[in-house]
Amino acid sequence: MPAQIDRYNYPTTIYSGAGARFKIPDVLKEAGKSHPLIVTDRVISALPICTEMRKIISDAGIINDTYFDIFGNPTKSQVTGGVNAFKKYSCDSIIAFGGGAAIDVAKAIAVMINHPGDLFDYEDTPSGKPITKEIPFTISVPTTAGTGSEAGRSSVVSDDDTKRKKIIFAPSLMAKAVFLDPEFTTDLPANITATTGMDALTHLVEAYLAKGEQPLCDGIALEGIRRLAVHLPKCVDFAKKGNKKTKDHIESRRQMLNAAMMGAVAFQKGLGVTHSCAHALSTVVDMHHGLANGILIPYCMKFNSTGMNDRFKAMAMAVGLKSTTPTAFVKWLENLKEKIGIPKHLKDVGVKKEHLSKLVDIAVDDVCHPSNPKPVSKKDFEKIFKAAIG
Ligand SMILES: NC(=O)c1ccc[n+]([C@@H]2O[C@H](COP(=O)([O-])OP(=O)(O)OC[C@H]3O[C@@H](n4cnc5c(N)ncnc54)[C@H](O)[C@@H]3O)[C@@H](O)[C@H]2O)c1
Repeated sequence: MPAQIDRYNYPTTIYSGAGARFKIPDVLKEAGKSHPLIVTDRVISALPICTEMRKIISDAGIINDTYFDIFGNPTKSQVTGGVNAFKKYSCDSIIAFGGGAAIDVAKAIAVMINHPGDLFDYEDTPSGKPITKEIPFTISVPTTAGTGSEAGRSSVVSDDDTKRKKIIFAPSLMAKAVFLDPEFTTDLPANITATTGMDALTHLVEAYLAKGEQPLCDGIALEGIRRLAVHLPKCVDFAKKGNKKTKDHIESRRQMLNAAMMGAVAFQKGLGVTHSCAHALSTVVDMHHGLANGILIPYCMKFNSTGMNDRFKAMAMAVGLKSTTPTAFVKWLENLKEKIGIPKHLKDVGVKKEHLSKLVDIAVDDVCHPSNPKPVSKKDFEKIFKAAIG
């Protein structure tokens, strides 16, 4: 049973600590829910953490079903499957259980339970329909420390045909409660720990640099960067050494979950050029989002580094560097990548020069770079991708 679980209410109700998962049945019962749909992915559905999740809920006398046909960069058809499952089993609530893919699909399922038409009618664009109807009671339980989607208000789902990522956004998509239980992340392999962790870092860095004055987000971003700089390399090391369930390991995983959630809170301010490039890579070569961000971030921060000495100095101090120049921070990013096993170049993961023009066209159209601190032209995207491909 849990030793100590912290509960607080920002940005939603959070239960944090090893064993937080045991609070899930009480929260469902308090909300009067008796039949959740557990939304997870194909891989997680076969892992012991999924068996344990179902047992915790069943042992409390709560009927539950699972929908797990989720994989890769999730698409609209995966959402449709989940909506059908929710209706078929007559569920009354949703447990979003997994990495960003499962959590995003869970949120999109929640939208489509009471909203008619097509999911992408509700895309976050000027012509998108507003999300106004009731959203089923949803709680989230992350099993990666990366996207922060568990504490966010958006869902990212790709078009099945074009593979373009589309964002569905509404404040009502925020989970009613989030369970940050590090014991659900202590079996993550080193490569997934590294790529998802680099996604969290990219959220924090891009949010801190994003245009506009939002002191709350800035403070959260810097503190998240500080925690991540300490705990991401440690978690990757723990994973490489067999993921033993020591106190230190669990504490580092807890801090990674905190940093990832802080990233999602901070990026309410905006994101930037790295995310636009990463979205293009998922469309063109179906790359994992965290891997794309992880490879790209030094190239994109090199582009951003001129004229932002104060911001780069604050980030360099947060990660404990003696030299606080933008160059030193970019070098730190390169070293971190190498240390945790993120490939240096995009060519190392199969991206070719032939992909360049499509990548640039998609990145230019992306919604993230308008909040980048420097404008990013088509030529700039070309230069960044050329350097990153290697
Ligand atoms: N909504 C948002 O704000 C937001 C932000 C960033 C990214 N995203 C989206 O999130 C998705 C990426 O999420 P992700 O990086 O968490 O990857 P993911 O959900 O695709 O998971 C990566 C892999 O890790 C496996 N996995 C997850 N937990 C595990 C565990 N505990 N043990 C072993 N394996 C485990 C999964 O099965 C999967 O194979 C993308 O679709 C991206 O677009 C959303």
